[in-house]
Amino acid sequence: MERLQKVIAHAGIASRRKAEELILEGKVKVNGKVVKELGVKVGPNDRVEVNEIPLEREEPVYFLFYKPRGVISSVHDEKGRKAVVDYFPHIDARIYPVGRLDYDTSGLLLLTNDGEFANLLMHPKHNIEKVYIAKVKGIPFREKLKQLERGIRLEDGMTAPARAKVISVDKRKQTALVELTIHEGRNRQVRRMFEAIGHPVMKLRRDRYAFLDLKGLNAGESRELTAHEVKQLYALANSTR
Ligand code: URA
Repeated sequence: MERLQKVIAHAGIASRRKAEELILEGKVKVNGKVVKELGVKVGPNDRVEVNEIPLEREEPVYFLFYKPRGVISSVHDEKGRKAVVDYFPHIDARIYPVGRLDYDTSGLLLLTNDGEFANLLMHPKHNIEKVYIAKVKGIPFREKLKQLERGIRLEDGMTAPARAKVISVDKRKQTALVELTIHEGRNRQVRRMFEAIGHPVMKLRRDRYAFLDLKGLNAGESRELTAHEVKQLYALANSTR
């Protein structure tokens, strides 16, 4: 049995706080009866409706996926390109990615059917740390990396403080591998940051998301998050509000 507001939030309809408001406003029914108190718990067989619309309820599932390059971060692609969800044919739950990686970016992507979890982690104010490894054109000087760290003026505003370090250089090919740690998740942010310092990205992979990494996985493989990891991510998102 779970609290009604939690069940509504998991369905992705509203935050827990908003779900409580919906209950107090009399917009929620359980088995056809309006419920206006917050203490009520419901089981898997109870019918919940919000604004007369039945709640689709599934057991929450959480996956850590090593997205290959050349795959779109969505449930379905109209152009027929491979989508991340195509890697989960055996999963009946309607999972979707938590945020996105570009078509050409590989690396760590979470997928879930828990709307509350996805909304919390994707919210910009939650500042989840993400570590990217970029292969860039040219070998950036220290001063250029400092610029990445201090903040770059992009068309949608300054980037927040970041960390950058060169991992290796190929002098012959004039390329470098740079690790960039950011807390934001703007569209094509890493590519735009490197572009701005004159070192365009040739290849990009996300290696870490909060405390999670890709250990033990090859591109195209996934594993379920443990219950403890899910709890830790909830706690992290709630603590950085
Ligand atoms: N930044 C990018 O530029 N691309 C990604 O896929 C993720 C972060």
